[in-house]
Amino acid sequence: MELIIRPDADAAADLVAQIMARDLRSNPHLVLGLATGRTMERVYARLVQFHRDEALDFSLCSTFNLDEYVGLPSSDRHSYRYYMNHHLFLQVNIDLRNTHLPDGTAPDLDLECQRYEQSIRRFNGIDLQLLGLGQAGHIGFNEPLSALRSRTRVKALAPATLAQNAGLFDDPALMPRRAITMGVGTILESRRCLLLATGEHKADIIAKAVEGPITAMISATALQLHQRCTVVIDEAAASRLEGADYYRWIFENEPEWEAFRR
Ligand code: GLP
Repeated sequence: MELIIRPDADAAADLVAQIMARDLRSNPHLVLGLATGRTMERVYARLVQFHRDEALDFSLCSTFNLDEYVGLPSSDRHSYRYYMNHHLFLQVNIDLRNTHLPDGTAPDLDLECQRYEQSIRRFNGIDLQLLGLGQAGHIGFNEPLSALRSRTRVKALAPATLAQNAGLFDDPALMPRRAITMGVGTILESRRCLLLATGEHKADIIAKAVEGPITAMISATALQLHQRCTVVIDEAAASRLEGADYYRWIFENEPEWEAFRR
């Protein structure tokens, strides 16, 4: 795992967007795994800016989102399909037919989960998986006790997640209590993982995810098993890390990161 600490949330999101843009430029057929949440809004805003100012081309790439609420149609503005269309897809030149999210309104949800897994396989897997970090330590909606080998499936949302995301709903009582999510095992199969977390409220869970023991109670700890996982955070989210100085030294000195130091 690599850990990069940027001065603030904007700089952290900018670095993540730059890594994604660089990979997309070197492989226009990139298969991107995408995430939602407030943190990602800055990343998508930067990607849209790269598209407008630097002609970053999305026309050949494909995307798979991590998760979707059960029961929300794409027209519902609380659905993740709506979020993605709004923040990214309709603002760049991506072909909507190449964008994939689980269908939370499918009549047979288990079948929909299998179909989603097959679809990822048909695209030969995910090249770069973007990840956020939930208050409960989840990646996707892999709530506490998610098996570290789990596949795409329906999960009941944990109380911490309901509390964290309820504010995004006009009427919190209407927030779905279940979601379809890629499994931890599905996520670990992506060729590269890129996790972004910012803010003081993420400091405690970032320390557990990065420096704590691997546990199904905090699905983000499974990323310690991934061969190529980059975690990007801001100073506020880094405040509880024991090894922060060491991680800073690596970012400042490793040749790989030279182009990203500014
Ligand atoms: C939701 C998503 C997660 C995401 C999390 C972070 O719960 N299902 O994939 O990581 O939000 O949210 P935020 O960026 O708003 O803190």
